[in-house]
Amino acid sequence: MGKALIIGAGGVGNVVVHKCCQNPDVFEEILIASRTKSKCDAMKEKLDGGRTKIRTAQVNADNAREVAELINEFKPDVVINVALPYQDLAIMDACLETGVHYLDTANYEPPDTAKFEYKWQWAYRDRFREKGITAVLGCGFDPGVTGVFCAYAQKHYFDEIHFIDILDANAGDHGYPFATNFNPEINIREVTAKGRYYEEGQWKETDPLSVKKVYNFPRIGPKDIYLLYHEELESLAQNIRGIKRIRFWMTFSDNYLTHLRVLQNVGMTSIEPIIYEGKEIVPLQFLKAVLPDPASLGPRTKGKTNIGCIMQGIKDGKPVNYYVYNVCDHQEAYAEVGSQAISYTTGVPAMIGAMMIIKGIWKKPGVYNVEEFDPDPFMEELNKQGLPWHEEFQPTLLD
Ligand SMILES: NC(=O)c1ccc[n+]([C@@H]2O[C@H](COP(=O)([O-])OP(=O)(O)OC[C@H]3O[C@@H](n4cnc5c(N)ncnc54)[C@H](OP(=O)(O)O)[C@@H]3O)[C@@H](O)[C@H]2O)c1
Repeated sequence: MGKALIIGAGGVGNVVVHKCCQNPDVFEEILIASRTKSKCDAMKEKLDGGRTKIRTAQVNADNAREVAELINEFKPDVVINVALPYQDLAIMDACLETGVHYLDTANYEPPDTAKFEYKWQWAYRDRFREKGITAVLGCGFDPGVTGVFCAYAQKHYFDEIHFIDILDANAGDHGYPFATNFNPEINIREVTAKGRYYEEGQWKETDPLSVKKVYNFPRIGPKDIYLLYHEELESLAQNIRGIKRIRFWMTFSDNYLTHLRVLQNVGMTSIEPIIYEGKEIVPLQFLKAVLPDPASLGPRTKGKTNIGCIMQGIKDGKPVNYYVYNVCDHQEAYAEVGSQAISYTTGVPAMIGAMMIIKGIWKKPGVYNVEEFDPDPFMEELNKQGLPWHEEFQPTLLD
């Protein structure tokens, strides 16, 4: 049926590749391209011989010209960007030049400012519309499935959703004193940024990790959760009818936070370049180099993740509460695709989003966030592709 160019061969890329190969009717051919070609070749070696044809290539995705050349040569229907957020704009430029649909899992961040905002990518709306191609932004789990969950709730259960709390719990244990579950640079930039949430038309800021609650998660139990800013809040605050407040919460263990505080206090999480032995280095990038590679956590991580959305609103004038979530087991994910649940919960939705584009179900010219598409076919695929979801209509609410 179609061809996908997958850019990025890290933890998430590995899951996308496996999942495309599990759906050969949709993904007849894939090209895995990344900075380090040997990682793409290793994936091909593992999965070659099935019905999905696999090719590999080296690419520097910071260079739009190089990406465009690769697209012109391979002629994919869609580019799945699972490299880093810094490459988003160059890859979007290449898609515009070549007229190919685009999908990513994380919004653009300028490498020298730790700030996520959709403005850079939303600025491509007119150009994508004029070119007749679709960009689907933020199609991992969060952002991604969390937006689809909200769209599904809006479509089926609510006239207006007033309050949304997105809860992201990772009860996995990898046995290291300190490691991050995905790219450490991106992860630490996210966690050390100021918290922010939307309330009554305004954005409110909190000091990093200063707002804490405890939530008793289904299948995981009680966990400390901290208020963070997360990129889907920006688009959901615009796209959900009647929204009064939307917040994002993530679990962290005391051990993780103690290590992070020390690293922050000694300056290791800074993105300001320093000179070391005559060479310019960025402390956070150096820290990434000494921390365990997230891809190496797969075989050692035990436990589950639980990510979902608690919503409160009204339907036919009556109050409605609703909680929808997925529970993913690290070891089951590893047994299936060789990556832990964080990569799994990101890569599966990226594949489903690309499937929606190739099948022509999610196709409208322009640049869109996931909640702007029909959620039903995506929700159906989540159940089929390894991320089943559960609903509760009398959930415990956060105050
Ligand atoms: N929405 C969500 O739920 C969610 C959750 C987790 C992660 N994410 C996002 O998913 C993406 C991938 O995460 P990950 O954990 O897989 O990261 P990762 O393991 O660090 O993998 C990133 C891959 O991109 C490649 N890359 C980096 N710069 C490149 C460039 N200039 N040109 C070509 N390739 C380049 C890397 O190449 P090398 O192998 O040479 O380093 C690596 O293969 C990130 O954007 C992350 O923010 C989203």
